[in-house]
Amino acid sequence: MTKLPDAHVVITGGSSGIGLETARAAVARGARVSLIARDAERLAAAASDVGATATACADVARPDELRPAIDEVVGKGGPCDVLITSAGSSHPGYFERLDDAVFRDQMDVDYFGTLHAIRAVVPSMIERQRGHVVTISSTAGLIGVFGYTAYGPAKFAVRGLTETLRSELAPYGIVVACAYPPDTRTPGFDAENALKPPETERISAAIKPREAVHVAKAIVAGIEKDRLVITADVQTAALARAAGLLGPYVRRTMDRQVRRVRRERS
Ligand SMILES: NC(=O)c1ccc[n+]([C@@H]2O[C@H](COP(=O)([O-])OP(=O)(O)OC[C@H]3O[C@@H](n4cnc5c(N)ncnc54)[C@H](OP(=O)(O)O)[C@@H]3O)[C@@H](O)[C@H]2O)c1
Repeated sequence: MTKLPDAHVVITGGSSGIGLETARAAVARGARVSLIARDAERLAAAASDVGATATACADVARPDELRPAIDEVVGKGGPCDVLITSAGSSHPGYFERLDDAVFRDQMDVDYFGTLHAIRAVVPSMIERQRGHVVTISSTAGLIGVFGYTAYGPAKFAVRGLTETLRSELAPYGIVVACAYPPDTRTPGFDAENALKPPETERISAAIKPREAVHVAKAIVAGIEKDRLVITADVQTAALARAAGLLGPYVRRTMDRQVRRVRRERS
């Protein structure tokens, strides 16, 4: 089980919304927390708000910025024990009216931003034979939702990466988990609401948005219980379970096969 007291938790997108509240919850559990985002002023305000150990500015879509930023916070807070990739945004709209650039940007930030962050910390986690990664997908990464043709695929990709990487890093004692927040009241959610087509608004209105504090609590509890799938509401939990009904059995079988190959090769 991952212990948060004394762990160094690095959070991309830690200056706002779900990332910020997760930072606060992790600090309350005794962790040292570092925040990474683009806007330096917002980062500084967030750091003093939650009592963060370190901050660094980077665009997660740019590995040439993100890697030095991660090195910088690791230099101040020690090796990264837990990585949470919360940097991201959602740009809804009608498929035929969205620019190509939006599809690309959603993949660049939400998917590649997650990938670049994980690739920056994994070598040290493998060396230390421990670590914990939590990616942030969405309910819209479990099921296609009207209006999210640019955002949804990026969050499906985050889920695919997380599930695939899980089995590769498990032999090193590294946990790779995915959180699926439902609609959650954050500055990012407000920005997204301004772009939603009415059909997407109607679908969203059927379920009351959660508070970021509530989602953050679920993420921190998920880390402490080594949960691979982290949800914060019953609807998403049911979707996640139904989508992966055979998951636990298939995962156990695959892990057994991986262990067998490794035994044979050693
Ligand atoms: N709120 C929801 O309803 C909801 C539901 C499901 C999933 N999610 C996911 O949860 C995550 C957090 O969302 P949120 O609602 O908390 O958003 P938010 O309030 O807008 O916060 C987003 C954070 O990510 C940072 N960020 C955005 N783009 C970045 C980039 N290119 N490089 C580095 N940092 C970047 C922002 O800081 P800077 O702008 O200063 O960089 C900020 O710290 C996202 O991945 C989102 O897709 C949200």
